[in-house]
Amino acid sequence: MKKQSDTILSLDLAGGEVLVAVCGGIAAYKVCYVVSELVQRGAGVTVAMTEAATRLVTPTTFEALSRRGVLRSMWTSKSSASMQHIAVTESVDLILVAPATANMIGKIAAGIADDLVSTMILSAASPVVLAPAMNERMWANQVVRENAARLTERGYLLVGPAEGWLACGSVGPGRLAEPGEILEAVTAILKERKQHREAHEPCAKQPPGL
Ligand SMILES: Cc1cc2nc3c(=O)[nH]c(=O)nc-3n(C[C@H](O)[C@H](O)[C@H](O)COP(=O)(O)O)c2cc1C
Repeated sequence: MKKQSDTILSLDLAGGEVLVAVCGGIAAYKVCYVVSELVQRGAGVTVAMTEAATRLVTPTTFEALSRRGVLRSMWTSKSSASMQHIAVTESVDLILVAPATANMIGKIAAGIADDLVSTMILSAASPVVLAPAMNERMWANQVVRENAARLTERGYLLVGPAEGWLACGSVGPGRLAEPGEILEAVTAILKERKQHREAHEPCAKQPPGL
């Protein structure tokens, strides 16, 4: 069997900066793989977690994978003058929200910023990719559908959800898109941003909601 060490690892995402916002969906464990892949390909990854997400995967796991501290609150920064949540969103090329819960999709659609993750998403200065994942009845709920459609209309990119086995024991739409599909979407945006940067354009892409 081919070992990973036999492969020349590509650093094709070197120079790219990604904020991965992890919400409280059971698929949060799959986002560990996404973070690891991005780091292995040279991207700088900062992870922010909602309180619910920290109940499903420990911040320590994401700290180890990203080799950076995990952001969990707006109120723990050593210096509030630095307004870390704003500084981080200004410094990244992309925000990936995965898994994007029904709750977080609803909050963004309604303009609610009552925790670190929703505040960062609403203050985005770069493209935002959301990978929704939830029970199929939640995903079929008219309110959730309207919220998701509203986000798409406003320029947010939704990847998935896929159809298949759901952790609640049923089969249907609501499964997190495969990590490979999420990575493809992230890669495309990072490469586009890099090209714009190299061409010295001052503003690579309009953030959503503007
Ligand atoms: C074990 C478990 C798994 C959950 N999985 C999901 C999920 O996949 N998608 C979802 O939208 N909500 C899920 N929830 C509910 C969310 O955690 C809950 O709505 C929470 O308020 C979301 O908060 P957040 O959006 O701030 O992360 C789950 C809850 C539990 C206890």
